[in-house]
Amino acid sequence: MSNRGNFSGQIGFILAATGSAVGLSNIWRFPYLTGQNGGAVFLIIYVLCIFLFCFPVLVGEIAIGRAGGKDAYGSYKKLGNKKWGWLGLGGIISGIFILSYYNLVAGWAFGYFFEIVFFSALSETDHAGFFSSFISNMSSSFIYAFVFLFLTAACVVQGIQKGIEKLNKILMPSLLIVLLGLIAYALTLPRAMEGITFYLVPDFSAITKQTLFDALRLSFFTLSIGVGGLITYGSYLDKGQNIVRSSAIVTMSDTTVAFLAGLMIFPLVFSAGKSPTEGPALVFIVLPEIFKGMGPLLGRIVGGAFFLLLCFATLSSCVSLLELAIAYFIDEKKLPRKKIVWIVAAVIFIIGIPSTLSFGDYPIFNKLSFYKDRDFFTLVADVTDISLTVGGCLMCLFIRNRWKMVNLNQELTFGNPGFPGSFVQRYINFAIGYLCPTLLAVLSALIIIDKIFGI
Ligand code: PHE
Repeated sequence: MSNRGNFSGQIGFILAATGSAVGLSNIWRFPYLTGQNGGAVFLIIYVLCIFLFCFPVLVGEIAIGRAGGKDAYGSYKKLGNKKWGWLGLGGIISGIFILSYYNLVAGWAFGYFFEIVFFSALSETDHAGFFSSFISNMSSSFIYAFVFLFLTAACVVQGIQKGIEKLNKILMPSLLIVLLGLIAYALTLPRAMEGITFYLVPDFSAITKQTLFDALRLSFFTLSIGVGGLITYGSYLDKGQNIVRSSAIVTMSDTTVAFLAGLMIFPLVFSAGKSPTEGPALVFIVLPEIFKGMGPLLGRIVGGAFFLLLCFATLSSCVSLLELAIAYFIDEKKLPRKKIVWIVAAVIFIIGIPSTLSFGDYPIFNKLSFYKDRDFFTLVADVTDISLTVGGCLMCLFIRNRWKMVNLNQELTFGNPGFPGSFVQRYINFAIGYLCPTLLAVLSALIIIDKIFGI
């Protein structure tokens, strides 16, 4: 175990798992989906989904990792058999594909930081036009994505304590400071309270099937469950740590960051008289317009801080996705971390090329005839989205049918002697045994129907 590396303690693990969880979905997807789905009511449903359905799956995934003591493939294989190992391998491959497109969007955030702080992005008159020319400029897209992936690899190559843990110990508190600073500023703006009302006073008539569907999907994605990243992090956790408590803290921290992101964005949006229903454009088009309205100096400071925040959040998620693959090569293929990190990062960069080209003038990548003329980027994002919920569902079935609930309970009792017989134990067993696999199976089917048949 010692030559694989491990977290120095509970705090290191919690910060790293929180770093994995906090990402684009908290600061980009959560606010725009809340804006599109009626505000406060979406927030309430999202929080319920997180605690009722996602938390038990998170606990299960970390427990598999700690009990297996290996990468995602190795842990499934050890606790199950070679066939179950394929589930871990599927997660690793899916993680590689997620990183290939996630890194591109992270690169946009990185690029926006530079464009706003050092170049003239804020003096643009047409922000939508600027965004589309920004993402269709292939040379800058490749450079930003390359540099971002390089930073990710440079961290992972340092190993668990000196790389991943250290990075998150710096990034997570910095993220919180920047976020709180931006909220304090946003709340002083005129009409900020209109944004707060939209965000915090629920209008239950706004609930639709879409609200439930979006909240459920987002809640699984945001906690990074289903691909095995947390199996990997769990395998670096020692037996004395309380998994249930750590998972509860990670869940709460991730939800708090999403909540705070909303608390910053809605006052900004309402005080500028903008609509919160803009969708994905909210962060890259509407916010820069608002930053511009603040004047050249303040706009640069607030806008720069915002995109820096987004970079912090995405970097720690990218790191967990890369580590998922790296752990496999170290544990299963006995390859040295120092070498394999750069090789895998290079492969991921190459896999990401078609996604990047999707935004350029390349019909073979941006108009896939076999996928309803959608682009390659959307294809990868959709397929990996499905793999997350399918992976989560199969993981619950693995625990119930193969590894068995008694072994899960035994693993969760290490570091938590009060666990057996507690309400939490009964709930986790019920959720992993029945509730979550059913829900995840239905959700996976709905996502497939939605993506492929567009219903
Ligand atoms: N949880 C990350 C986010 O919210 C995304 C992610 C998914 C990271 C799966 C790792 C594994 O952006």
